[in-house]
Amino acid sequence: MKKFLALALSTALVAGMNGQKIGVSMPTKDLQRWNQDGENMQKMLEDAGYEVDLQYASNDPQTQLSQVENMISSGAEVLVIAAIEGSSLGEALDMAKENEIPVIAYDRLLMDNDGVSYYATFDNYMVGTVQGQYIIDTLDLENADGPFNLEITAGDPGDNNAGFFFNGAMDLLKPYIEEGKLVVKSGQTEFEECATAQWKTETAQSRAENIIASNYADGTNIDAWLCSNDSTALGVENALAANYTGEYPIVTGQDCDKENVKNMIAGKQSMSVFKDTRTLATQVVKMIGQILNGVDVDVNDTETYNNNVITVPSYLCEPVFADVNNYKELLLDSGYYTEDDLK
Ligand code: BGC
Repeated sequence: MKKFLALALSTALVAGMNGQKIGVSMPTKDLQRWNQDGENMQKMLEDAGYEVDLQYASNDPQTQLSQVENMISSGAEVLVIAAIEGSSLGEALDMAKENEIPVIAYDRLLMDNDGVSYYATFDNYMVGTVQGQYIIDTLDLENADGPFNLEITAGDPGDNNAGFFFNGAMDLLKPYIEEGKLVVKSGQTEFEECATAQWKTETAQSRAENIIASNYADGTNIDAWLCSNDSTALGVENALAANYTGEYPIVTGQDCDKENVKNMIAGKQSMSVFKDTRTLATQVVKMIGQILNGVDVDVNDTETYNNNVITVPSYLCEPVFADVNNYKELLLDSGYYTEDDLK
């Protein structure tokens, strides 16, 4: 009997629940990753038998708030939200709670509210440690004398992930900065100084141009530029191409966006943390099935993600790094991209 029940349940999880509506709120179509996340979620949910209300909010928190409110009014039974600003959706989360609608924070944590039920993401701190370790290994900081010059570009202060990325990398790099083996000539080592509002390429680019003009105009080498993600890395790469005459630095990134993988192949970006959006979408679809079937929801971290009101039970997927040596296997052989995507 038990066996039968388990089988029936797992079939229900795979088959989904005839036509129940799931609201999926994504931040913007401007960055490649969110288009992929949205498409993956929609396809997987529809394949599992759900109806999907997928909305993009043009990076405008107010638009996202009203889109989520509309999803609730129009009968969504579970909400999946990748927030533009973690703290801006309080009213919608209150409304979801009143209506007993479970909310899954997707990739970015929803802050300052207890109306969030689960969080599914890649291990954000680990994204940072993978980037930091890459710089340590590539410069051979353990053995080399140095000093090496480092600059840092971080993410959006409104995105809770950005601090995790920064801290993950800086916890590894700071000892070398303190020891003087890594030198940050701009002097900008605090998150607030390195942050990039809304993760914008142009903003990262103009800050990088200023740093280059003030500290490296005489051809002094920059050895590494820690960039928290690919959209900011692109800005730094544009600035390097325009204004920098020293040896090309190590540049880190995250997401394996097509433009950045092309730059990796061309030698303009050293690595990018690969977060296979198919993995995250699969996990979230599974969690939705578990929620709607009233069975235990898969989580693997119940301590790390406090949103200032509650600690949100989380499922963290594991990121890996891609570089010119392994991108074919990771990105092409796995079907994530086609060869044409990278031309
Ligand atoms: C995501 C990153 C992404 C960044 C900008 C973060 O919340 O985790 O993958 O690069 O937002 O969209």
